Amino acid sequence: MSDKAMMRALRGETLSPPPIWMMRQAGRYLPEYRAVRAKAGSFLDLCYNPDLAVEVTLQPIRRFGFDAAILFSDILVIPHALGRDLRFEEGRGPVMTPISAGDIAHLDGSHVHDHLAPVYETLRRLRKELPGETTLLGFCGAPWTLATYMIAGHGTPDQAPARLFAYREPDAFEALLACLADVSAQYLIRQIEAGAEAVQIFDSWSGVLDEACFERFCVRPVARMVEAVRSVYPDVPIIGFPKGANSMLEAYRQRTGVTALGLDWTVPMSQAAKLQQEGPVQGNLDPLRLVAGGKALDEGVDTVLRGLADGPLIFNLGHGVTPDTPIGHVEAMIARVRNRQG
Ligand code: CP3
Repeated sequence: MSDKAMMRALRGETLSPPPIWMMRQAGRYLPEYRAVRAKAGSFLDLCYNPDLAVEVTLQPIRRFGFDAAILFSDILVIPHALGRDLRFEEGRGPVMTPISAGDIAHLDGSHVHDHLAPVYETLRRLRKELPGETTLLGFCGAPWTLATYMIAGHGTPDQAPARLFAYREPDAFEALLACLADVSAQYLIRQIEAGAEAVQIFDSWSGVLDEACFERFCVRPVARMVEAVRSVYPDVPIIGFPKGANSMLEAYRQRTGVTALGLDWTVPMSQAAKLQQEGPVQGNLDPLRLVAGGKALDEGVDTVLRGLADGPLIFNLGHGVTPDTPIGHVEAMIARVRNRQG
């Protein structure tokens, strides 16, 4: 069994200080990322180039010594591997041709793992190059969140296109989720084979669904993925991050069987502490406290530590770090988490 701090916390140990990493820790707030990004051409070229993807994955580890390194890629490589077109536009984010009900029956899974071979190569190299104490995390998007981009063709604030599609075309929509769940589970299994020690499933848009849809679109497909991964790798920890799930977090943990719960910053400390009694939690500093720094940052860090440091905790943000985050604030956050007397 691994004695790395992140792995111990994922097994349910209480550590002082807790392990720490940040969602989107490789990214535009780092000048060394922007330099590699400029050299790579497109963002997707960066994701599919193992030399460059290894380099940007390692950058935040070298600079800050985080306890976990997350594979550099994007959740949308799965629809791309299924034959959907994808590009990233400056200032707009991902753009795809919206999928129709008719297209769903023709999604082609036969080239997925050839397409993703550079991602597996990136993981194999990272596992060799990372410091001995750093945990290597793989990840994928949850089927619902992938479906929202595939249906709208771009990001939207409330995911109205995907919600309407799900109501109007329930059979095609269920088929899409089932396809994405199966392909994503195989993707995670291959990532683990290539060296990922734990994996995270990002469901960034689970907060826009009513109770019945949350159960059908978020819980069930992720439960199916967890079962598939566990049938091959029963001991590899799986972190679920159903952003915005709030009062449905407890049901999500119970019914998906994820090892640990990623919490966004709106989850109250009292609820987070209760969830922590059933297993490790990860989170949940508001990323904008990290942008602001000073008192707002110190108070936010202290609140998380006061509320959650007496149980299994992985210190993280409640969502990804934003490009305008000052590096000095990241350093201050890490120092405050690590210097706390336990
Ligand atoms: O965390 C890491 O450091 C690993 C890399 C990673 C990226 N995206 C790199 C990225 C991870 C884990 C993701 C996950 C991801 N991608 C999610 C789930 C998490 C979340 O933030 O909700 C989602 C929804 C996506 C889809 C996506 N990718 C969007 C909406 C955007 C545009 C928004 C933006 O920040 O530009 C991206 C682009 C993206 N993915 C960038 C990075 C570093 C920025 C693109 C660039 O550098 O040009």
